[in-house]
Amino acid sequence: MQVLVVGSGGREHALVWKLAQSNLVDKIFAAPGNGGTLGEGATNVDLKPNDLDGLVKFAKDQGIGLVVPGPELPLTLGLTDLCLANNLPCFGPDKYAATLEGSKAFAKEVMRKAHVPTAQATLVSELDVAKQVLAKSNYPIVIKADGLAQGKGVLICQNAAEALDAVTSMLSEGRFGQAGAKVLIEECLEGQEVSLLCICDGHVAKPMPSAQDHKRAFDNDMGLNTGGMGAYSPCPLLPDSDLEQVAKLTIEPILKVMAEDKHPFVGVLYAGLMLTATGPKVLEYNVRFGDPECQPLLMRLKNDLAQVMLDAIHGRLSQTKLEFTAESALGVVVAKDGYPGSYSKGAEILGLSEAEKLPLVKVFHSGTDLVDAKLVSSGGRILCVTALGENLRAAQDHAYEAVKKIAIDKSFYRHDIGSKVL
Ligand code: AMP
Ligand code: GLY
Repeated sequence: MQVLVVGSGGREHALVWKLAQSNLVDKIFAAPGNGGTLGEGATNVDLKPNDLDGLVKFAKDQGIGLVVPGPELPLTLGLTDLCLANNLPCFGPDKYAATLEGSKAFAKEVMRKAHVPTAQATLVSELDVAKQVLAKSNYPIVIKADGLAQGKGVLICQNAAEALDAVTSMLSEGRFGQAGAKVLIEECLEGQEVSLLCICDGHVAKPMPSAQDHKRAFDNDMGLNTGGMGAYSPCPLLPDSDLEQVAKLTIEPILKVMAEDKHPFVGVLYAGLMLTATGPKVLEYNVRFGDPECQPLLMRLKNDLAQVMLDAIHGRLSQTKLEFTAESALGVVVAKDGYPGSYSKGAEILGLSEAEKLPLVKVFHSGTDLVDAKLVSSGGRILCVTALGENLRAAQDHAYEAVKKIAIDKSFYRHDIGSKVL
């Protein structure tokens, strides 16, 4: 079988790396891929993740047997629908089901129907109405742009003045464009955050072990929100023994509603959870693997990933047993100075082979490119240095030992991935 992986980040490198180990897979294409996907023997194809027609035409011409979209954008644009219309097996939800991530208002509505615990929220699209809601609210409060805003659409406001600024910027000043034309005014939950990702076949959800992301740029959760500066699995806040129960509470009811709506959810359904004093509550859904959560999770996965994905597409996950190493895995993102704001490209990446020589270490490329046979940075997040270890502490030690072998001019990383729970 030939496989097409869509996307260009560390998650997609990890998907290519894992799929390349499958006996079912002869050849992998990455669109557009990066220096890391090339290093796995994949062929990079110069197609953007939002070029649905180009991707489907390529997949048909090439005789692709499995399409694997990494990021949310192609899913929310309808890549899966177009694949299905062309008899191309695609591991991801259709456009309707992907709206669970594409619209926070839609996700709230589905959670309400499915009786999934989540924060109370009011949807507003008029500034006057927003002002009335804010006047009656308690603080802090959370203001969320409805649509996709590259992880920047959530603002936690400490008082009424901040909240008014936030809703005004979204509803009447066009911050986030159409994505901010509707806004959720949401109760602020307190607790620790953890992620539960499940592989779904439309009806059955198979939980993966828990993971925890680190969204802020700098140590001790300082600095701006990023796509994620590091992740590890499992997270002791959500032990394996609780996975089934939390999936029953936060994932399975959503699958039921999606199936009733005639859009059974196939792919990865990711619940961002807040563990509150009154139990887990859903902060958001993603309709794909997280980046960087994918990297430690796939390092731990023992199954043939291509087989699991085909089982999900064909609705036969009930017979699949997902198996993971007992070891922990932890990934540290190395990013270019300036990220998540503007940053320069083209810095040479040194020390990679020394890092990769260490046992239990795998360096996934998030934003790299091969230029004149030299590996250089091409993104804000450059690498996700990931390691296994017999426990979280050991995985952390191994990952940081590898990070220290790498030298990239004007780059940074967090020193405390995994430390909060240790
Ligand atoms: P989201 O994109 O909805 O996951 O939000 C991004 C981040 O904002 C989450 O990871 C939380 O840290 C925070 N957040 C979102 N919603 C809430 C909420 N209702 N209460 C407290 N924090 C929240
Ligand atoms: N790491 C968070 C995400 O992929 O959305």
